[in-house]
Amino acid sequence: MRILSLAILAALVASPALSQDAKAPAGDIKNGEKHFISDGCYQCHGVGANGAALTGPRLARTEYPYEAFINQLRHPGSDMPPYEASIVPDQVVADIYAYVKSRPDYKPAKDIPLLMGMGAR
Ligand code: HEC
Repeated sequence: MRILSLAILAALVASPALSQDAKAPAGDIKNGEKHFISDGCYQCHGVGANGAALTGPRLARTEYPYEAFINQLRHPGSDMPPYEASIVPDQVVADIYAYVKSRPDYKPAKDIPLLMGMGAR
């Protein structure tokens, strides 16, 4: 039994399923940004993919592998509407993925002058 488990583990580690990011198709960041707006993602996920408290999680710098990202669009978990390939083709999903991956990381509060003016330290 133990040998079988080890064999399964070895097969999993060697399988391409665990290196999905390497399989993400090349995406056009500019086109992804355009579609993030025109396909309505920003309405729930916020401008710049920064997320919005009540409508959708932050997508900027997503840690989702590409396969999970496109799967979420085609078969969303709960509150998100599904996006079929006839509406958002695979290549556009790859572009949107490249765009959200390219977004900058959070800035510390001290680097945001507006927040500092409000007393944040
Ligand atoms: C009507 C609001 C709405 C729209 C429009 C929308 N989403 Fe979402 N999205 C959500 C919500 C709510 C969740 C979290 C719950 C869930 O999984 O359904 C989510 C989750 C996600 C996730 C998983 C992120 C995570 O951390 O769980 C991805 C990826 C995603 N959306 C991508 C997109 C993309 C790309 C678009 C545009 C093509 C889009 N969404 C449009 C509401 C929306």
